[in-house]
Amino acid sequence: MIAETTDLPTKFVKIVVTDDRGRYLVPELPKANYSVWVRGYGLVDSPKVKATPGKTLDLKAVVAPNPRAAAEYYPAGYWFSLIRVPEKGDFPGNATEVLELRRVQLAADPARLPWSVRAIVRRDDRQMIGFVNFHGPPGVNDIEEPDAAELGWTVFSEHRRRGYATETARRLMDWARDEHGVRRFISSTTPDNVPSLRVHEKLGFRRTGQVVDGEIIFELAP
Ligand SMILES: CC(C)(COP(=O)(O)OP(=O)(O)OC[C@H]1O[C@@H](n2cnc3c(N)ncnc32)[C@H](O)[C@@H]1OP(=O)(O)O)[C@@H](O)C(=O)NCCC(=O)NCCS
Repeated sequence: MIAETTDLPTKFVKIVVTDDRGRYLVPELPKANYSVWVRGYGLVDSPKVKATPGKTLDLKAVVAPNPRAAAEYYPAGYWFSLIRVPEKGDFPGNATEVLELRRVQLAADPARLPWSVRAIVRRDDRQMIGFVNFHGPPGVNDIEEPDAAELGWTVFSEHRRRGYATETARRLMDWARDEHGVRRFISSTTPDNVPSLRVHEKLGFRRTGQVVDGEIIFELAP
């Protein structure tokens, strides 16, 4: 249960404790008008009720119609606790450097979050099987195209050749198209990276003819 007010100099939110009789209680509330409602795992937020400290309310929890609706309320820490992340030493190649670079970029500019790295997690067993990342928001790419987003992907070796990279890249580009109207995508890989070349081909990427730092530049555009 949550009590929230904007009457005070800053927005104030307090979470419930249980009293000696098992009733929910929001303790030590400064005097103000509050919105109070029920939030919890497996629920969606109940309608907000207006109340002041000292008042007793009879709030009803609203069971979520499906797990997806319930998941909207889960905090980041909950999601993280569900993921089975490999040991640091099991991250392949330069993965830890890439992730560290993205971490530093995010610390400097938290607005990059949707355009940074994401874990690829297998739904069935919640195993992290790789990661996928944009290099940054649209415009951050090897060939400095202002409206294009560049992406890259890594699948940990024991999970390769099952279509995961292709499925993930496709879904991530759908997200960028649907949520942000991005129409052009850039990606790059070295000429000897046969699996990566094949993934580009399967996704419909075309070579632009450019090579940057020894990497062939690909583009996917409508
Ligand atoms: C590139 C990479 C992400 C591919 O991941 P993945 O989940 O195995 O990719 P997919 O299963 O979607 O597709 C791989 C394709 O390459 C093919 N392939 C893989 N190894 C191959 C090989 N040695 N020779 C020929 N084809 C090969 C697979 O058969 C598959 O094609 P298909 O569906 O036509 O059979 C993964 O190999 C990886 O993480 N590599 C290291 C990091 C990297 O190079 N990232 C790309 C830089 S942008």
